Amino acid sequence: MSTFLLATEPIVSLDAYLASDVGGSGVRRAHELGPMATIDVVSRSGLRGRGGGGFPTGQKWAGIASQTGGRRYLVCNGAEGEPGTFKDRALLRANPYQLVEGAAIAAFAIGAEEAFICLKASFRREIDAVTRAVQELQTAGICGDCKVTIVAGPDEYLFGEEKAMLEVIEGNEPLPRWLPPYLHGLFATAPQLGWQSHDNETGSTRDGAGSNPTLVNNVETLSNIPHILARGAEWFRSMGTAESPGTVVITVVGDVVAPDVGEVEMGTSLRAVIDAVGSGLVAERSVKAVFSGVANAVVTASDLDVPVSYEGFQAIGSGLGSAGFIVYDDTTCMVDAAYRVSRFLSIESCGQCPPCKLGSSAITEHLERIETGVANEGDLAAITGWLGHVTDGSRCFLAMEEQIVVTSILRAFPEEFTEHIEFGRCPRPRRLPIPKLIDLAGGCAVYDDSFWRKQPDWTYAPDGGSAEHRS
Ligand SMILES: Cc1cc2nc3c(=O)[nH]c(=O)nc-3n(C[C@H](O)[C@H](O)[C@H](O)COP(=O)(O)O)c2cc1C
Ligand code: SF4
Repeated sequence: MSTFLLATEPIVSLDAYLASDVGGSGVRRAHELGPMATIDVVSRSGLRGRGGGGFPTGQKWAGIASQTGGRRYLVCNGAEGEPGTFKDRALLRANPYQLVEGAAIAAFAIGAEEAFICLKASFRREIDAVTRAVQELQTAGICGDCKVTIVAGPDEYLFGEEKAMLEVIEGNEPLPRWLPPYLHGLFATAPQLGWQSHDNETGSTRDGAGSNPTLVNNVETLSNIPHILARGAEWFRSMGTAESPGTVVITVVGDVVAPDVGEVEMGTSLRAVIDAVGSGLVAERSVKAVFSGVANAVVTASDLDVPVSYEGFQAIGSGLGSAGFIVYDDTTCMVDAAYRVSRFLSIESCGQCPPCKLGSSAITEHLERIETGVANEGDLAAITGWLGHVTDGSRCFLAMEEQIVVTSILRAFPEEFTEHIEFGRCPRPRRLPIPKLIDLAGGCAVYDDSFWRKQPDWTYAPDGGSAEHRS
C-alpha cells in the first residue's frame, strides 16, 4: 500500500477509525513495547519530520526522553503557515484520529505530562474535527492518561516556528525565544542568557522547576506514527527511498490546471508530482520555476526530474521543506516573484533581530524598485550587500529563508534583473499571488488576499477590496 495517510473517504467517526486496520492498534502496540522500544521502532522506520526540516523523528524523541529537567511536554505543530502548503489541513479533514493517536503514542514514549495540539484559530473546521477526535478517543480510553489541550493561535507565519509556538501556548505573542524547545521547554525556568542582573526566573505559569524538555512535531509526522507502530518499521521502509522512507503529502498550487493535495511515495519525480497532484499545466505553457514554500532555493525547469525526497532536493541545492510546491509558468517575472516572497518574509519578520527586519525590508524595497523599472545597478549592489548580513544574530530561520530564496533567484535568473534595469520596465507584467492558503478543495485554491494589507508591525491597512483571491 503506497498511500495510507490521506483516506479516500474521510474518516469522520471513531467507529470508522477503529474499523480500519490501524485505528487503536498503534497505541496498543506502543503499550506492549514500552517507551524505549517504541522510540526504537520510530528510529528504525527512518521517519523524518514533515514540518520542513526533515529531522529524524526517532532521534528527536530519544533526545527528549533521555533528558532529566523537570516535566516533559508534547506539542503538535499544525500552524501550517508556509505559503503553498495545505497538507496538514487536508490530513485533519481526512482523518483527525490518526493524528491524535500519534500524539498519544509520542506522549507515552517521551513520558509527557500533557500534549498541546496547536492550530490557527482561523482553521475552524480542522479545530472542530480534532476536538471531536480527542474527545472520542479520550472517552474510549485510547489516549491513556495524557491530557490533550487544543490551542487556537494567531495567523502570523511565526506561530509555526517552534520557539514562537511555545510562547503562544504560554499566552504570549509569537516571538521566537532564544533556545530550542528541548533546552527551554514549556512553562520552564527561563535560562540565564548573560548580561542579567537577576537569578533564573521561575517558570512562566506552572511548574517553575527545570527546563521542561518539549517535543515539537508536525501534524503529518505524528499522523504517520500509528501506522508505523501498527505495521512495523520494515513496512514503512518498504516505501520511499533509503534516506527518505515512507510517503509524503504534497500540495501543488500556482500555475497548474487543478491545485490539490496528494500523497505520493518519496522519490517520485517533481515533474510526475506536478502532473499527478496538480493536473499539470495548461496547453502551451511550460514550467519556469517551482518553489517549495518560501524557505528553499528556487527549482528551475532543468531540475524537474528531481526525486521528491530530502536527499533529492538537497542534491540540487534546494530543500524539500513541507512539500508545498508553488509552480510558476513561463509567463512569470522572476523579479516579481522575488519581490513578493521577500515582502512576505519582511512583513512576517518580528524584528527582534534588527538585521532580519531591516535587511528583509530593504531588500524588498530594492526589488520593488527593480520590478517597477526605476532602479539602477546600485539597487542590485544594495541587495547583495544586505543578503550578506540579513541573518546576523538571528534567533530563527526566517532570516535565512530570505537569504536563501532571494540569492537563489538572483543566481538562477540574473538576466531578468539586468533586463528590468536596462529597459526601465517589467517585460512580463503580471500580478503574482502569494499563495497563503485559506482553502483548497475540488481543484480550487483560495488565497488570503488580506495579506497585501498587512503592514510591517502586523497591523492591517483599511480594507480596499476583497480579502480572498481564487485560483
Ligand atoms: C518561520 C518558520 C515557520 C514555520 N512554520 C511551521 C509550520 O507552520 N508548521 C510546522 O510543522 N513547522 C513549521 N516550522 C518548523 C518548526 O519550527 C519545527 O521545526 C517543526 O514543527 C518540527 O516538526 P517535525 O520535526 O515533525 O518536522 C517553521 C519554521 C520556521 C522557521
Ligand atoms: S530572525 Fe527575524 S523573524 Fe526570527 S526572531 Fe529574529 S527578527 Fe524575528
